[in-house]
Formats: sequence, C-alpha cells, structure tokens
Amino acid sequence: MGNIAGNSAGQEKPLILLGLGGVGRALLSQILEQRALHGERYGLRMRFLAVCDSSGAVEEPEGGFTEESLAGVLQHKEAGSTLASHPLGRSYRSPEAVVEELGGPGTVVVDCTASDGTAGALLLALERGCQVVLANKKPLTVVQDVYDGISRSSGQARWETTVGAGLPVIATLNRLVSSGDEIERIAGSFSGTLGYVMTGLEAGRAYSETVAEAYRLGYTEPDPRDDLGGVDVARKALILARGIGWRIEMEQVEVRGLYPERMAGLSVDGFLAELPSLDEEFRGQVAGAALEGKVLRYAATLSEGACSVGLTAVAEDSPLGRLRGTDNLVEFYSRWYNPNPLVIQGRGAGVEATAAGVLSDIVELQLQ
Ligand SMILES: NC(=O)c1ccc[n+]([C@@H]2O[C@H](COP(=O)([O-])OP(=O)(O)OC[C@H]3O[C@@H](n4cnc5c(N)ncnc54)[C@H](OP(=O)(O)O)[C@@H]3O)[C@@H](O)[C@H]2O)c1
Repeated sequence: MGNIAGNSAGQEKPLILLGLGGVGRALLSQILEQRALHGERYGLRMRFLAVCDSSGAVEEPEGGFTEESLAGVLQHKEAGSTLASHPLGRSYRSPEAVVEELGGPGTVVVDCTASDGTAGALLLALERGCQVVLANKKPLTVVQDVYDGISRSSGQARWETTVGAGLPVIATLNRLVSSGDEIERIAGSFSGTLGYVMTGLEAGRAYSETVAEAYRLGYTEPDPRDDLGGVDVARKALILARGIGWRIEMEQVEVRGLYPERMAGLSVDGFLAELPSLDEEFRGQVAGAALEGKVLRYAATLSEGACSVGLTAVAEDSPLGRLRGTDNLVEFYSRWYNPNPLVIQGRGAGVEATAAGVLSDIVELQLQ
C-alpha cells in the first residue's frame, strides 16, 4: 500500500455493488463502519453509485446517499424485500445496464453475487476504465477468455476472497509467480464443511453421521450434495491453476465427489437416508490410509499441469494432515519453499471475513 497515515486530501471512490446477500450486506455495513478509518488513514471516502440485487437497483439519489438511506436499504433487504420494491429502487435489464449508465474511470464494480451472469458487466466495466473486485468465483471459472479479460486488466481487478475468503491465498500465489519462483505443487483444503466431515471420519465416526450432523448444524448448503460434490472446491482450484498461468478449462479439472452418481437424483431426505450405505467404504479408506501413516483430506491438488479435487491420503504429520475442523489450509511447494511448504491457514468462509477481504481489495486498488 503506497499511502501514508493521516492523509487528509480526501478522495471519493465511486462504487457499484452487485449483490446484496450475506457478503454484500456485510460489505455495505463495514464500509459505513470504517468511514473514519478510511478517511483518516487513506483520505478515502467510498461513495455508492448503485446497489443491485437480482431484481433491480437502488441508484444514488440527488445529493448522494446518506448513511441513514444506506442503512434503510440494508434493512429493506434484511426484511427479505427486493431492491426493485424499495422506494428508491427500480427493476433493471441487467448489471451491464447499470455499468453502462453509471460506470466511469475509477469506479469500482464489486461482484458479490453468486451468479454466472455478471461476466459481461465486469468486462464492460474494465473496458470503461473501471476497476473490479470479485467475491464471486463464477466469472473467473467460465471460459478462459473471460478469465483473461478480467486478469489482463493491468492490475485493475482483484479477487482475493474467491479462494479461502479473507485469507491471502491469491496474493501469496501472485507474489510467488511475480518473483519467478517455480510453483511445483499446491495442495489445499478449501471447504470448511468437508474439513469438518474429514475430522469426523478421522475420529472414527461414520461418514453418514458426520454429514448428517454438518447438515443439522447448518454447515452444509441446504442440499449437502452441493458441498459433497466438490464443484465449489474445483472452482477454487481452477482459479489457482489459472493464477499460476495454466491455460485450463473446468472440464479439465478432475472432480471426485463424495457420493456416487446413483444418489444424485434423490430428494435431500432420501439422500441423507441412503448415506449409511457408504459408511463401510469410507471406513475402509480411512483404515487403508492409516496403515501408511496417512489421513484422508478432501483436497485440491495442482501438480505437473494437472488439477484434481477429491479424497486424498496425505502424511499425517504434514500441514494438511495436522489440520482439524473447518479451517482452510493451503500448502505451496516451490523452488524456494521446499521441502517445507509455504502454508496459509485460517477461517476460509463467513460473510464478515469475506466482506473484510473484499473491502481490503477495494482499498488496495485505490492505493496501488
Ligand atoms: N459466504 C461466504 O462465506 C463466502 C466466502 C467467499 C466467497 N463467497 C462468494 O461471495 C458471493 C456472495 O455470497 P453470499 O453468501 O452473499 O451469497 P447470497 O447470500 O446468495 O447473495 C447473492 C446476492 O447476489 C444477488 N444476485 C444474484 N444474481 C444477480 C445478478 N444477476 N445481478 C445482481 N445481483 C444478483 C442476489 O440477489 P437477491 O438478493 O435478489 O437474491 C443476492 O443479493 C458468492 O459468489 C460466494 O460464492 C462467499
């Protein structure tokens, strides 16, 4: 960060926020909470041009949003209403239309949606001289061309929270790449939910029991197969692979889920009821790994141009092997980090930590 504490020059940072779900709302709240810090330390004031959800947008009124009016937008969303139904809101064609209308040089377009429909808006934003920040993995994991369009924007885009939420995983990868270090292998656990399940298996619990418990505690998505299928982890692995510089599409990522195809069509209740049929198989795999001094992790592995996601036996005394519970952990093995890897570990999800990571991306873009 190239700015000095106590900068009082005062600079407005116009923002267009796409997505006002858990992360988007936490971000808006944190921006309001951190106004004094940003003003005093960086001479920076975030100014909302528009906030958008899937229904529409609330655009900046004449004279600007007040803190109260933004708090009112938050309350409106928290009450379950759509932005299109807000007194200042209107429905819209697409996020692209908002960028077209309001986005200019220096505006930051922040993608806190979970939609694959924002790529056009982000590319248009960059074309118009805006900066972009993504918490949303999807635009970075569609075809390579879109990733290239976003990443080749001369440093005008950031997506730190797409892998490991607030953890500095992408920043670390970028530093290894930019120094010319050779990344030999990356291995990581990027799902708190699957970490929880793996810890349960290791403690001798039945697979069905740990999954049912994670479901009951709300650790899984409403349909646990959205976690157990591994696709979200595969998206993170693909973002890392592309970050290394590999030209790779999602179809080339080998994804081994934690349930068989025959269970894909069941209802959620039917799926949970069928889970005990998998217990013996998992028990056998845990025992097989233990015989070799290994433990099972649901890991993303990038090595020698190949990217895979699935159940992996790792040495029990390795950083991944020592991992317990829901933390994320990533090991980078490179020319300079070998045989001991560079390791990052910590909370890898949660709307507040993610929003803080997004906010930090916005500030860094301004200060670079
Ligand atoms: N939650 C975490 O811990 C975490 C961690 C790292 C990264 N992320 C990523 O952060 C993103 C947001 O997560 P979240 O938990 O906040 O999701 P969420 O609660 O489902 O919120 C998604 C928001 O995006 C809006 N939206 C959907 N399609 C849109 C579109 N085409 N244009 C504008 N807005 C659109 C939704 O509108 P409605 O309100 O109208 O439905 C909603 O407000 C996701 O991509 C997620 O993968 C989340």
